[in-house]
Amino acid sequence: MTKKVFMNTMGCQMNVYDSTRILDALAILGYEETQKPEEADLLMVNTCYIREKAADKVFSCLGRFQEIKQERKKKGQETLIAVAGCVVQALGDAFLKKAHSVDIAVGPQSYHKLPELITQFNRKNGRKTIAEFTSIEKFDALAQPTSHGCTAFLAIQEGCDNFCSYCVVPYTRGCEYSRSAEAVLNEARALVDTGAKEIMLLGQNVDCWHGEGLDGKTWHLAQLIERLAEMDGLLRIRYTTSYPVDITDEMIAAHRDIPKLMPYIHLPIQAGSDKVLKEMNRRYCVAQYLEVVEKLRKARPDIAISSDFIVGFPGETDSDFEQTLAVVDKVRYAQSYSFKYSPRPGTPASLMKNQVPEAIKTERLSILQAKLLELQKSYNQTFVGKNLPVLLTERGKQKGQLNGYSPYLQNVHVSLPEDRLGDIVTLHISAATASSLSGETI
Ligand code: 5AD
Ligand code: SF4
Repeated sequence: MTKKVFMNTMGCQMNVYDSTRILDALAILGYEETQKPEEADLLMVNTCYIREKAADKVFSCLGRFQEIKQERKKKGQETLIAVAGCVVQALGDAFLKKAHSVDIAVGPQSYHKLPELITQFNRKNGRKTIAEFTSIEKFDALAQPTSHGCTAFLAIQEGCDNFCSYCVVPYTRGCEYSRSAEAVLNEARALVDTGAKEIMLLGQNVDCWHGEGLDGKTWHLAQLIERLAEMDGLLRIRYTTSYPVDITDEMIAAHRDIPKLMPYIHLPIQAGSDKVLKEMNRRYCVAQYLEVVEKLRKARPDIAISSDFIVGFPGETDSDFEQTLAVVDKVRYAQSYSFKYSPRPGTPASLMKNQVPEAIKTERLSILQAKLLELQKSYNQTFVGKNLPVLLTERGKQKGQLNGYSPYLQNVHVSLPEDRLGDIVTLHISAATASSLSGETI
């Protein structure tokens, strides 16, 4: 009999990718995905630890899972609760002590062991956590994935050695490593063969990918992308996240020369004050960042640039914050993500004495977000009246509507029949808001 699994994925795109790999691994045990938690034999949450709010969400989700488990028990149904992701890695064995309802917990580098853990648990071997750093082994152990739509994520690099002073990632995802070009190309082939038209290459610091190439030598990211671009059936290539000063001249040239490489780059600056960047242990100053932006725009004038921002980092003054606003005006971002600084256990910044009061963080965030939203709106409005090639990726909210993405990663709505999903169509853009464009076929 098939069993059902419900998966709640929190956090970043890497977690979205991990969840698809976990679901593929569970399918081998006979688990089929359901969107209804109450009918699931296995309730899973893939967790994020990046900010305190994210970690809190995990425990409220587990509370809901526990209620569902009790309801199901009344009907004589057994339910397993499993947790994956960065919260497990960060808390280790303490996680199961804190989360009483959880049967099995795996860190982000150990989820390939989940099927084995479930089998053991069913043999009454007890609750268990595995939070090891065995990244390479993980990818070797997993079956080749299938694409769950026409755009797919593909992790090529994991972990981070940068140790930005606010960030837990080096502690939860471990040290930086790159998969081989062969592994990446095989996975890309499998994804394209099962329906992917676009692949987003993922890495915490994707520009420092330095995997073994097909010739046995170490390749850099531009070489990998060049090779991927030769793959029949793959129409669009994207990558994220970039560390500003790790972008090579070869990558900049790739944006000029490789038509399948989309004109979009996520280039988190985090803050616009050199003093704050230094305290954050970022390896660049604002002038160096702006130089990278200029080089990218010279190579590919229409490239869309997005960023992450942290406001209220310890010691950030009003004048530091104003410098962040000034950078935003200079770069004119197409999209952005911004957060209040959240002290994370074990990170150097959490121990800094000059923490910024919550009320100031809230105020700065709302000022920054209003500015970013305004810019995003005016960026989108520049496309009204123009034609854009749009990859149709999913059904829209309204009947008869499809959603897709422009080369610049703008969400575009259009009225078209469902059989056009997976096509790239040229649309005439008729309207724009801060969050999306509307288009018509021409
Ligand atoms: N507080 C707030 N934001 C954070 N980020 C990472 N760590 C923290 C933290 N402690 C943000 C950064 C990063 C994005 C993924 O999350 O902006 O680029
Ligand atoms: Fe975290 Fe910095 Fe690494 Fe990004 S580069 S994952 S912010 S430590």
